[in-house]
Amino acid sequence: MRKNIVAGNWKMNTTLEEGVELANNVNALLKDTKANCEVIVCVPFTHLTSVNAVIEPELVKMGAENCSEHEKGAYTGEVSAAMVKSTGADYVILGHSERRQYFGENNEQLLKKTQLALANGLKPIFCVGEVLEERENGSYNDVVKSQVEALFSLSPDDFSKIVIAYEPVWAIGTGKTATAEQAQDMHAHIRKVVEEKYGKEIADNTSILYGGSCKPSNAKELFAKPDVDGGLIGGASLKAEDFLGIVEAFN
Ligand code: 13P
Repeated sequence: MRKNIVAGNWKMNTTLEEGVELANNVNALLKDTKANCEVIVCVPFTHLTSVNAVIEPELVKMGAENCSEHEKGAYTGEVSAAMVKSTGADYVILGHSERRQYFGENNEQLLKKTQLALANGLKPIFCVGEVLEERENGSYNDVVKSQVEALFSLSPDDFSKIVIAYEPVWAIGTGKTATAEQAQDMHAHIRKVVEEKYGKEIADNTSILYGGSCKPSNAKELFAKPDVDGGLIGGASLKAEDFLGIVEAFN
């Protein structure tokens, strides 16, 4: 059966020193609290190696926040999936709405990134989600369906390694959370879209996380929904106690 997951996305926050301290604190708190889910911290590229050195893999897994669509070579400033993997990372966030919106990442690039991540043994946390206008004009189910379908040339074996994160853009960093019912409806929709392509077994085994102003006070209600398998946490992952408060929503 699918895994419950709580993953932090630190985004472009923390210096190296602050990031190592945060990872250390998360690790220390998890020694005292047995987590009933997989716990992941997704950190800036510059922090990967140092964070990997202070976390215990049976308590906390690590991911990057992006990787290149190119395998290697003359792409100044880019970081490849193989480089990310070589730091000890297990996961990589791909297709975050901030990457789609501010860096123009499109479905074709995201498929290439996903293929390279998988080829290098990284598990993608693939983000989908509609903007406010699409929520309001009622096109949100179609928008998210087409974002998921961008991966439908993957083999069933490859697709089964993907974690999906539904992050309605209007809920990210706004303090405005989707209701548990809105999240459940969308997660069930995504699972149905996956089932139509890859069958019930793969759909039932796909972890689908909710992201967008998730915090200790609302995590329990969201995670109680049958198709919500955890969260991708931005702001509240920057304080170890708040992040742990969300992890404890599964206890
Ligand atoms: P917030 O939790 O800060 O709303 O961010 C969510 C997010 O974008 C996680 O990837």
